[in-house]
Amino acid sequence: MYREKILEAFPEIMNIKDDELRDKVVKTWEMAMERGGWTDLKGIPYTLVIETNREFVEHTKMVTRTAIGAAEARGDLDIDLVIAAALLHDVGKLLEFTVKDGKVVKSDYGKMIRHPVSGAILASEAGLPDEVVHAIVAHSKEGEAVKRTPLAVLIHHADFIDFEIDKARK
Ligand SMILES: [Fe+2]
Repeated sequence: MYREKILEAFPEIMNIKDDELRDKVVKTWEMAMERGGWTDLKGIPYTLVIETNREFVEHTKMVTRTAIGAAEARGDLDIDLVIAAALLHDVGKLLEFTVKDGKVVKSDYGKMIRHPVSGAILASEAGLPDEVVHAIVAHSKEGEAVKRTPLAVLIHHADFIDFEIDKARK
């Protein structure tokens, strides 16, 4: 139902060569929008931890570009999985956040289940490979409790490069 909005926000999805993987990425975003009650991806901040003008879609694209750039420079990672994991790393924020009195705040669900976990649940339900599910669940501090795969290491750092640079500009 939200397929067009998702593809418009993330044209990078079309760079995934594997048809099945590409469909599962779209499906995960669709499920997240439906369950989180979002009809649009515009105007959502990417974090509630720092004051920022950077939006959720913009952050996701920046992390995806950064991850692809690093993966291409290295040449030893599966680019399809890199794009899928980067695009989905924060998808759980659509469940972690909600709108209250016109403001984006943490949802009741989000107070119990952080976005790395909710994102991994959604991706798993959509049938994404375990390596992508792992990269989502391990991209933030939850990843300190497990041994991150090379893909998860890449996504974790790509994410924090954007977050830390944004924070350094404050
Ligand atoms: Fe992120």
